[in-house]
Amino acid sequence: MKIIESRAELQTWSDGERAAGRRIALVPTMGALHSGHLSLVAEARRRADRVVVSIFVNPTQFNDPGDFAAYPRVMEADLASCREAGVDVVWTPRAEELYPDGASSWVDVEGLSEPLCGGGRPGHFRGVTTVVAKLFLAARPHVAVFGEKDFQQLAVIRRMTGDLGFGIEILGGATVRESDGLALSSRNVHLGRKARGQAICIVESLSLAESMLAQGERGSRAILEAVRKKLGEATLARIDYAELRDPASLELVGDVIQGPTLLAIALQFEPDPALPEDSDPLDRGNRVRLIDNRVLVPTD
Ligand code: PAF
Repeated sequence: MKIIESRAELQTWSDGERAAGRRIALVPTMGALHSGHLSLVAEARRRADRVVVSIFVNPTQFNDPGDFAAYPRVMEADLASCREAGVDVVWTPRAEELYPDGASSWVDVEGLSEPLCGGGRPGHFRGVTTVVAKLFLAARPHVAVFGEKDFQQLAVIRRMTGDLGFGIEILGGATVRESDGLALSSRNVHLGRKARGQAICIVESLSLAESMLAQGERGSRAILEAVRKKLGEATLARIDYAELRDPASLELVGDVIQGPTLLAIALQFEPDPALPEDSDPLDRGNRVRLIDNRVLVPTD
């Protein structure tokens, strides 16, 4: 496995692979790799001859500097996981190459970037699309794989890729879950013991909505009410959003669910106030925002 830092070196490698007729897949990540990322690598492997994983904690997509500072950075463990997964190249871009001094150019996808995570995290998607465009330009992949847990991110990147004519196939990889259903996320390590137990209400609320739909409920309001009640069981969290939207346009659905509908949820957990500030962070936890989603499909 090659470890490349320089953008020029990656471009030369990529040009060589393309000239030899080999297909390249890119899996962009911010590191702290878990089985969810490795399932994207496995998908990339199936779709291409060469797999590149980029590891870069992208400062421009964090609207909270504390969140950027706290983001887990475990490069040695990540490299070991990539080696074991048969990755061909790990690209660890230098921040100063991706964002040279005075950089002031941005890629912004209007509309799709605005609701859901775009509402509570201003500038987040502009940071994501800008860095992903830079990653695409350097790695020049034929295909790129992103997790479906970040449903909106996937939609925004698909739109950007089409709008800018990158000619890259964008694939979504299914969300990988813990045995109790919690979606894997690099942020889960920041949940304290009690919050970790409560976080299960997210996937339970998705399943509740799905079963209400299966039993014939079509009212958006009734479904959202039940979802919010279930999410309310997480006393250490507040609901950032719980919304029903069209999976293609991300527009809010009307009163009656008529076709496939995205249920998107974001919960913001806080440290356990019952525990002193100097207690073990594994018990007390940190601030952590978790998202999850499911596309609900009415059967009749
Ligand atoms: O999903 C992520 O980990 C990041 O948003 C991405 C796509 C690697 C861009 O920094």
